Amino acid sequence: MKKMYFGSNLKMYKNIEDTIRYLKELASLTADISREEIELFIIPSYTTLDRAARSVDRSLVKLGAQNMCWEEQGQFTGEISPLMLQEIGLDLVMIGHSERRHVFRETDEEENKKVKCGLEHGFTTLLCIGETAEEKKYDLGPEVLRTQLKIGLEGVDVSHIGKIWVAYEPVWSIGVGGIPATADYAERMHGEIKKCLSELFGDAGKEIPVLYGGSVNPGNAEELIIQPSIDGLFVGRSAWQADRFNELIRMAKTKAEAEGR
Ligand code: PGA
Repeated sequence: MKKMYFGSNLKMYKNIEDTIRYLKELASLTADISREEIELFIIPSYTTLDRAARSVDRSLVKLGAQNMCWEEQGQFTGEISPLMLQEIGLDLVMIGHSERRHVFRETDEEENKKVKCGLEHGFTTLLCIGETAEEKKYDLGPEVLRTQLKIGLEGVDVSHIGKIWVAYEPVWSIGVGGIPATADYAERMHGEIKKCLSELFGDAGKEIPVLYGGSVNPGNAEELIIQPSIDGLFVGRSAWQADRFNELIRMAKTKAEAEGR
């Protein structure tokens, strides 16, 4: 069976104590699941990372940062450098989450600088992409995703594959009020993403895991995970209680096994 990826971005929720409790609970609830079968990662807020990295069994739960500057140091007030994240000893960085792009107006060119910097500093780099509702209205998803991938991954060497992950998160599906993508639509977009990754990196591009995110919940996780081009689920609200996330992971995994995914 193909490895499945499950992760959550905690956004600007949970203080240090709550984050540590959550991570420990999640690690212990899922400890019996082989990490050959699943990759589990959590992306908490910056202020929790140092404690989290020291308190959690990283062979069970990988830890990531929600953003990162493309410079190592300098006059970049309010930014966090890759060296600072290395000092904590993180596993991954997330680049270009929808809220970074749409609330904080980050551009594809900026995401590209961050992606290259993340990879050069040895982090698994999770590039998030997705079209807006307006773009979807004109069925521009494939074009938008292609643009975000081609610019976001510009100049990335094929040798970095293995450390590049992609999350497809349609903007209209994320967060409170978001409408979950249907499994058919998500599969179609994942197919486009995979096609583009193969164009960019040749056969090696097929190894890049592509996760779906946006209103994943216990009602749609099974149908999404069995789609041939969906390699994992990137979950927000439905993952923020460790017991609920554990149940969702098990439910998805059981379904995937039953379908011979
Ligand atoms: P959601 O968040 O599952 O709460 O929609 C997804 C995300 O922002 O990654």
